[in-house]
Amino acid sequence: MGRDAPGPGPHQIPGLLRLAVTDPLRSLYQTVSRYGDVVEAPIAPGRSFHLFTRPEHVEHILVARQSRYGKAFTYRPLQEWIGLGLITSDGELWERQRRLIQPLFSYRRVAALEPLMVTAVRRMLDDWDRTPESGRVVDAAVEMSGLTLDIVGATLFGADLSGDRDRIFHAVETLQDAVTKVIRNPFTWVSTTMARYTSPGFRSWDRAIATIDEVVSRVIAERRARPADDGAPRDLLDALLAARYDDGSAIDDKQLRDEIITFFMAGHETSANCLAWTFYLLSTSPHARERLEDEVDTVLAGRTPEPEDLDKLVWTKAVLSESMRLYPPVWTVERDAVEEDEVGGVRVRPGSTVVVPPYLVHRHPGVWENPEAFDPERFLPPRSTGRPKYAFIPFGGGRRGCIGNVFALMEVTLALAMITQRYRLDLLPGFDPEPKVTVTLRPKHEMAMLLHRRSR
Ligand code: HEM
Repeated sequence: MGRDAPGPGPHQIPGLLRLAVTDPLRSLYQTVSRYGDVVEAPIAPGRSFHLFTRPEHVEHILVARQSRYGKAFTYRPLQEWIGLGLITSDGELWERQRRLIQPLFSYRRVAALEPLMVTAVRRMLDDWDRTPESGRVVDAAVEMSGLTLDIVGATLFGADLSGDRDRIFHAVETLQDAVTKVIRNPFTWVSTTMARYTSPGFRSWDRAIATIDEVVSRVIAERRARPADDGAPRDLLDALLAARYDDGSAIDDKQLRDEIITFFMAGHETSANCLAWTFYLLSTSPHARERLEDEVDTVLAGRTPEPEDLDKLVWTKAVLSESMRLYPPVWTVERDAVEEDEVGGVRVRPGSTVVVPPYLVHRHPGVWENPEAFDPERFLPPRSTGRPKYAFIPFGGGRRGCIGNVFALMEVTLALAMITQRYRLDLLPGFDPEPKVTVTLRPKHEMAMLLHRRSR
C-alpha cells in the first residue's frame, strides 16, 4: 500500500491543533503552504488527519471510493441536538431516508415552490421600501438570514415564521457556536457528551434547541390538524407526510422531527451566507455589479422572475458561483475512512479522518488563476471549459452531496435578481470582511450596508 504523506511531525501537532481551534482557516492555509496539497498529520497510533485539496482526490473520496468512507466524527456533536436526520445519519438509516426524501427535491417539485420564494423576497423589499430613506442601513447578514428563514418556513413547512425570526436566528447561531466549541474541545476525542458539558456556555444550548423544537412541534401539530384537502402536497411537509418507504410505511414522528430540524438548520443559514457575501463582493466590484444590473434589467424587463428565466441570468449565476467559490457556506467537508484506501499514492487507514475543504479546493493555484480575486468571468466560457468537475464543490459531491442544491440555487438566484431590480447595496466604511468560522462561514462582524432604491 501507498506511502505516508508529508505533514507535521508529532511535536508540531499540538501547535497546529491549537491554531486549528483558534483560527481554522489560517491553520489550513499554513498547512498547505508548508506541506503541499496532500498532507498527513498523525494524531494517534494508526490514526491520522489527512488533508486533500486536488480535484482528483476530492473526486476519489467523495465519489469514486465513497463506499470506503462515512461521515466524520466531527458531525457527532450535531446529533445531540438535531438527532439523526439526513446530515448526521449514516448507513442503512441514511439510505432509507435519502431514498424517501430525494424525489421531493426534484427540479419539478422545487420549481412549484418558486412563487412562495418570490413572495418572501417581495415582502422583504416592501419592508425596505417602507423604511425612511435616511434609515436604510441594514446588517446584510441579518436581513438575508431573515429572508431565507421566511423562505424555508413558507416552502418547506407552509408556516409563517416571521414572528419567531429573532428567536430562531439566535437559536441557530447559538447551536452553531455550540457545535464549534464541542468539536474544538479536546474531550471530543473521548466522548462528545463529555466535551459538551465541559465547554463554556453549554447551558444556553439546550435552551436554543428547545426553541427550535417548540417551533417545529408547532408546525407539525398545525399540519396534522389541517391536512391538505385534496391530497395535493402544498409544501415539503405535506410531501413528506405523504411519502412512503419501499415497504409502504410512512415516516414516524421522531424521524419527522429530526428531518425537519435538519432542513431548518441546513436550509437557511447556508443560503443566507451566500447572499450576504455576494452583496459584500459586489459592493467591492462596480463593474460586476453594473453588469448584473444590466442583465437583470434586460432579461426581466421589470417583471417578476419565473423559473424559466433563471437559465438566462448567466452573469447572475456566475456572480453567485464566484461568491460561493471564495466564501463557500459549507467551508469544510470531512469523512472517516471505514476501510483502508489509497489516495494520490498515500495510504489512508481505517479510522482516519480525511478533510476536503471547499475553502481550499476552491483556491487551488493549479486550477484557479489568481485565486483570491473576485472574478465571476471565470465561470463563463471559454474560461470555464476544461476545468475539473470537482474543483468547485460548494454542494459537496457523491451520494452525500447536498440534497437541497436545486432549491438553494433557485432561491439565491431569484433573490439576487429581485433585490438587484429594486436596490443597490453599498458597504458602509469600516466593515471587516473576515469570516467567522462555525459550521458555516458567516461574516464575523455586522455587515452594515446602505440601501439605495434603484427605480420605482
Ligand atoms: C447555498 C446553499 C447551500 C450550500 C452551499 C449547501 C452545502 C452543502 C454541502 C457541502 C453538503 C454536503 C456535506 C457533506 O458532504 O458532508 C450539504 C448537505 C446537505 N444539505 Fe445543503 N447546502 C445549501 C443549501 C441547502 C438547502 C436549501 C437545504 C434544504 C432545504 C439543504 C439540505 C442539505 C441536507 C439535508 C444535506 C445532507 C445530505 C445527505 O447527507 O444526504 N442544503 N449541503
